[in-house]
Amino acid sequence: MTFTVAIDGPAAAGKGTIGRALAAEFGFAHLDTGLLYRAVGVLTMNRARGVIDPVSAEMIATRLTEEDLKRDDLRTAVASRAASRVAALSAVRAALLDFQRRFARRPGGAVLDGRDIGTVICPEAEVKLFVTASEEVRARRRYEELLHSRPETRLDAVLNDLRIRDARDAGRQDAPLSQAEDAVLLDTTEMSIDDAVDKARALVRAKLG
Ligand code: CDP
Repeated sequence: MTFTVAIDGPAAAGKGTIGRALAAEFGFAHLDTGLLYRAVGVLTMNRARGVIDPVSAEMIATRLTEEDLKRDDLRTAVASRAASRVAALSAVRAALLDFQRRFARRPGGAVLDGRDIGTVICPEAEVKLFVTASEEVRARRRYEELLHSRPETRLDAVLNDLRIRDARDAGRQDAPLSQAEDAVLLDTTEMSIDDAVDKARALVRAKLG
């Protein structure tokens, strides 16, 4: 059987936590599509000492491997910025499309989280969620996450980065961040992640019948 759960939303909204929980509960494969853009961003920057060259980015996206997604430097603030910049390049998005589409329709079910899963990658997804929260709540969550590896992290810098990235992701021409018409909105500003996971689980269960 094929069954796709598409989870979209702005930065640090809790998409990954919900995606992982659904995959574990229903035995679906999970793809954090942000990792694809993060890996392309980091590898592109490493090639030219911090500069993002669009031609290199496309080539790197075309040749991306599963190993590249296991790098331990993909969660940094620098990687987030680089990801959002290469994600605005249509050639990079096109190079990553087939892999994501095949993943979405693999037998046994799949959960994908990102920005354009319900709108572009898998408009036919059986369940679509749009997960969001206020900027302040999202910034605080990301700040607490980053503090573990980088004690010098500052909340105001995290908030600023998040605003810039959201604006770029929502404002780009190709596959901008937007809520699909048939997506269920999960606003986690005043909801714990556990409650959000419960709601998401109930939606999938209802659809599976
Ligand atoms: O974890 P967080 O929500 O902060 O970001 P992410 O999901 O890892 O995505 C990193 C960046 O990749 C985003 O800011 C987007 O620019 C880009 N992205 C995208 O354009 N399309 C996707 N399906 C997933 C990520």
